[in-house]
Amino acid sequence: MALLNILRYPDPRLYTVAQPVAEVDTRIRQLIRDMAETMHAASGIGLAATQVNVHQRVIVIDVSETRSQLQVFINPELIETSEQTRLSEEGCLSVPGIYDTVERSERVRLRALNEEGKTFEISADGLLAVCIQHEVDHLKGKVFVDYLSALKQMRIKTKMKKRAHAR
Ligand code: NI
Repeated sequence: MALLNILRYPDPRLYTVAQPVAEVDTRIRQLIRDMAETMHAASGIGLAATQVNVHQRVIVIDVSETRSQLQVFINPELIETSEQTRLSEEGCLSVPGIYDTVERSERVRLRALNEEGKTFEISADGLLAVCIQHEVDHLKGKVFVDYLSALKQMRIKTKMKKRAHAR
């Protein structure tokens, strides 16, 4: 197991579009273990491979209060998104300390492969639905900050750059 380095916004590598996983092999399973460890160590509820500079369609999510219910989605595809939306506050391990409101579909249906390479589908609402949409966005090279106003994006970039210099 290993902790992976998480790319920080506005790192241009966060804008890379991830490629589908051709085969769920031991390398992918190792990546998943490392991503899960990295997410839990950073107290995050979701992490996309894009954020650890691996540009393949893999996400891990754990929205449980006990941080013990890991969900793994390989090649995730949103097959249904409700027209009904909700506003909720989001944050991101790639944009630490920044939280803002984003509008997302209230309910989604997702198809993906599991760690055995088998296709499955789930329906989600609430926090899990928000998290799924946030992580699938990462695989498309999109960060939640991209939904905010140009002014807010500029402020966040300035804040992140100052912080990077301070480190
Ligand atoms: Ni994120």
